[in-house]
Amino acid sequence: MKEKISIKDYAGHITEELKKGILLNTQGEKFNSMLIGWGQLGTVWNIPTFSVYVRESRCTKEILDNTGVFTISIPMGNHDPVINRVCGSLSGRDVDKVEAAKLELVPPEKNGVPGIRQYPLTIECEVLYSQREELSRIPQEIIETFYPESLVGFPEFDMRDPHTEYIGRIVDAYIIK
Ligand SMILES: Cc1cc2nc3c(=O)[nH]c(=O)nc-3n(C[C@H](O)[C@H](O)[C@H](O)COP(=O)(O)O)c2cc1C
Repeated sequence: MKEKISIKDYAGHITEELKKGILLNTQGEKFNSMLIGWGQLGTVWNIPTFSVYVRESRCTKEILDNTGVFTISIPMGNHDPVINRVCGSLSGRDVDKVEAAKLELVPPEKNGVPGIRQYPLTIECEVLYSQREELSRIPQEIIETFYPESLVGFPEFDMRDPHTEYIGRIVDAYIIK
């Protein structure tokens, strides 16, 4: 069962949960989910929106660019460490995260991308607009932290790939019961 909600009532909760990581689900040939810490509920062009920021290298980006739809899944209680580890460190190119993290998928109402029973606060979105960051316009201290040429101790990690912002129109919001 799904309890329809007014998502603005959960703005504070979402902001807190982003600090620990929430899930960004996409549906390509197979379902995929990645942990995100950046994002926000908002209003753009007088439309209720949820925006996410996805790095170039993510499997999620490829699916999102092909499909234009995503669903956000947010915990309403404890985080599952296995879900957060699998969805926050493994790529959908290498593993089936539904199997690896034992995700219980729940059919969507409107956008074709399932929610997840374990993380029941659900926001279905359709991409209205996307824009790739221009690294030259980002303050230097942020570039040094988030977009270095390599990581200390891990010279093979080139972090210069920018994020793309996706502004999603919220088409449904509910809690999976
Ligand atoms: C706490 C946390 C927050 C994260 N937030 C983001 C984010 O906002 N955007 C992003 O592109 N990657 C983020 N990541 C990294 C992705 O979750 C990770 O690279 C994931 O394995 C990508 O999966 P995919 O290749 O299947 O899309 C985060 C990772 C962690 C642990």
